[in-house]
Amino acid sequence: MIEDKRWKGVYSFEDSPYIMEILTGLRDKNTDSIAFRKGLVKLGRYMGYELTKTMDVEKVRVETPFEETEGIIVKDRRNVVIITVLRAAIPLMEGLIKVFEHARVGIVSAARGKAPKFEVEMNYVKIPQIRPEDIVIVADPMIATGSTLLTVLREVKKYGTPKRLIVLGVLAAPEGIEKIKREFPEVEIFVAKVDRELNDKGYILPGLGDAGDRAFGEPVKITTLPQVHPIE
Ligand code: URA
Repeated sequence: MIEDKRWKGVYSFEDSPYIMEILTGLRDKNTDSIAFRKGLVKLGRYMGYELTKTMDVEKVRVETPFEETEGIIVKDRRNVVIITVLRAAIPLMEGLIKVFEHARVGIVSAARGKAPKFEVEMNYVKIPQIRPEDIVIVADPMIATGSTLLTVLREVKKYGTPKRLIVLGVLAAPEGIEKIKREFPEVEIFVAKVDRELNDKGYILPGLGDAGDRAFGEPVKITTLPQVHPIE
């Protein structure tokens, strides 16, 4: 992982060829939903694995079938709370939980509205109690304007003060990182890559499109109520 020189505590995984190959697949407009979801699961798993390199470990003694020797456990792995920001973080969380199998999981539904206001709607919040020894990982694939994440981080803070508060995503725009760091300088940000910029609709460029739509399909707006057929 590489610390981005523009900010303190912002890391990308551009030094990992495998993570970059998975990202390339996600960017490709011809990648279908199945492969897209699988890519997100893989990224969750490998980025989670990379995160363990930043975690506290403890020396332990272990008995092999032949003799006693020294080993370690990643102590922090037992104290992870994953906050999943619906929808697109679901596959990312699935990957993370393979590394952090003890994790307690919070679910938040937060989505930004349309440009230019990008007002955030948050209508479902289930977050476990956060303890001082916890490592909280807020999983949100796209850190674009940062508005959704700011709303989520403000909410998460109401549940306790963790040892570390981490945002884990796939891509970030510099504008979003600036906004988060201004209000939460202590938050660590880990992304596969920091992209160039946002377009006027708030999408990351070069980006990968709308992560939720690409993973789960574009939702349709029902404008007329479905017809109800009476039971005969
Ligand atoms: N959310 C997405 O899914 N994609 C973007 O580019 C920005 C926000």
